[in-house]
Amino acid sequence: MKLERVLQYAQTLLEMSVSEGDIAVDATAGNGHDTLFLANLVGDDGYVYAFDVQKEAVDATLHRLLDNALEHRAIVLKDGHENVANYIHKPVSAAIFNLGYLPGSNHEIVTKPNTTIQAIESLLKLLKVGGMIVLVVYHGHEGGKNERDEVIRYVSDLPQKHVHVLRYEFMNQKNDPPFIIALEKVKEFLIEG
Ligand SMILES: C[S@@+](CC[C@H](N)C(=O)[O-])C[C@H]1O[C@@H](n2cnc3c(N)ncnc32)[C@H](O)[C@@H]1O
Repeated sequence: MKLERVLQYAQTLLEMSVSEGDIAVDATAGNGHDTLFLANLVGDDGYVYAFDVQKEAVDATLHRLLDNALEHRAIVLKDGHENVANYIHKPVSAAIFNLGYLPGSNHEIVTKPNTTIQAIESLLKLLKVGGMIVLVVYHGHEGGKNERDEVIRYVSDLPQKHVHVLRYEFMNQKNDPPFIIALEKVKEFLIEG
């Protein structure tokens, strides 16, 4: 038996949550790896909404979809994930975030605690019962620990009857390895705001 590595486990959680015909969200498109993964899961009757604030990331994601002939299954938006509610008005099965910066790109463009939490909150409202939000938390960069701590504080306070909150982490790895926070919506609830 081999424990699934963090990125592998993130994909397993998405696979368990998304079926053909579903709507899924890549909240931090970057180079488009997760957008492509989700586009494969939703099939021709489903749809992926991918967000990134950088043109470079939007272009890279569009190229990846085109290279795989799956561009018709996704819309790639150059906008912040905090604005997700402006675009999606149907129930969502799963969303994925990779917090931090785009490798090989501008390290100053990073996800931020307030906008990340705003996006999680909006997605919790849109999420189906049984749906999942997966966060891969990179926290080695400047500001990363602050974002990690604020996100942990927010998710730790979510009502347990409505959301199951999981942390999946290899505890003895060096150099701030990423870990997963997964939120499973188990019952509908009212979120203020
Ligand atoms: C760690 S990278 C994502 C990696 C990506 N999943 C991949 O497969 O390559 C984080 C991304 O979040 C983006 N980002 C930062 N703030 C954002 C925001 N408010 N909304 C959406 N994307 C944001 C960055 O531009 C960057 O591309």
